Amino acid sequence: MRKLSIQDLDLPEQRVFMRVDFNVPIKDGRVTDATRIEAALPTIRYALERHAKVILASHLGRPKGQRRSELSLAPVAETLSALLGQSVLFMPDCVGDDVKAAVQALSGGEVALLENLRFHPGEEKNDEAFSRRLAELAPLYVNDAFGTAHRAHASTVGITRFVRQAAAGLLMQRELEYLSRALNPDHPYVLILGGAKVSDKIPVIQNLLKLADAILIGGAMAYTFLKAQGHDVGASLVEDDQLDLARRLLTEAQEGGVHLELPVDHVIARLEDEASPVQVVTGNIPAGFAGVDIGPQTIDRYRSRIASARLVVWNGPMGIFERPPFDRGTVAIARAVADCPGITIIGGGDSVAAVRQAGVADRLTHVSTGGGATLEFLAGVELPGVAALTDKR
Ligand code: 3PG
Repeated sequence: MRKLSIQDLDLPEQRVFMRVDFNVPIKDGRVTDATRIEAALPTIRYALERHAKVILASHLGRPKGQRRSELSLAPVAETLSALLGQSVLFMPDCVGDDVKAAVQALSGGEVALLENLRFHPGEEKNDEAFSRRLAELAPLYVNDAFGTAHRAHASTVGITRFVRQAAAGLLMQRELEYLSRALNPDHPYVLILGGAKVSDKIPVIQNLLKLADAILIGGAMAYTFLKAQGHDVGASLVEDDQLDLARRLLTEAQEGGVHLELPVDHVIARLEDEASPVQVVTGNIPAGFAGVDIGPQTIDRYRSRIASARLVVWNGPMGIFERPPFDRGTVAIARAVADCPGITIIGGGDSVAAVRQAGVADRLTHVSTGGGATLEFLAGVELPGVAALTDKR
């Protein structure tokens, strides 16, 4: 990596401002999925073992510059403390004299967690004064928040101008290392894209069309492509304003010799009627029915492409997987990816939830903690939170 990494810093007895992505789901004051907290543990432990004074900072949700008690990071401090096996000093704010005094009193090997950065409007505005106030807390900065690296905010970009050194944490390094393989791929390279909207994935398709050998499409975004090809898609979700672009991408794929595959059969249902029987159709979808999952023939076709891949990158579920039995296609693809002997990389909240639901997450090479950040990286965009780190000499 051409940026400083945490291993390059002189940590003992130094205060380190560590930007993490603790944007985790919370229900009734409890963290319901600690994956992102667990993912940051190696970096936090690395710094604590070297007797750094660790000051953790994150956003949670989108409070838009207002203090909102339901978006407090206090529950995260509890979960983190249990996971680390040591107490975590929770600060009721992220800037100010009290916070400054409290972090100055930390000893080497102690850890504090600041309150939600987005309670201050200066965070999302990447405001210079707010960035300086954050930088006053520590001379060293580590960014381990890969999931927020696509945001140019005060805690991801602004602060880096006012600290002595700004380095990448271990999770950040791991994410960049694995996701870079999607841009410098081994072949055969199979890209699997799903989810509701084509528009979300267009920059990724455009960037990877020249690199992938096969692109397997599932989820509602498939119906926009199918409609663009002239198929009847019934009441399926379609982005009519993307039809021309879908046609262009299909042509580009054909001209470039890329196998852009669309579902050949579909699980269909009348969505407004929960009791309507689930059916499978091949080809056109009848009026009144929506496609809700890929069908068995499609699963078989996609499975054989995945089996012979040396690199698989997957983002987005194949159907409405949160509504069983419409999860079958997604679960089958998750198992097929887990069985692939090549490198397998998964990103995006829903596909990650799906591989967990299928119980195969630990059989994949890399499960990304990023949502939007992963998509932007795959689209070839330089992430501002990475660009802002100190260059290696
Ligand atoms: C995410 O969950 O993708 C990151 O934490 C970024 O959150 P944001 O989309 O609210 O900036």
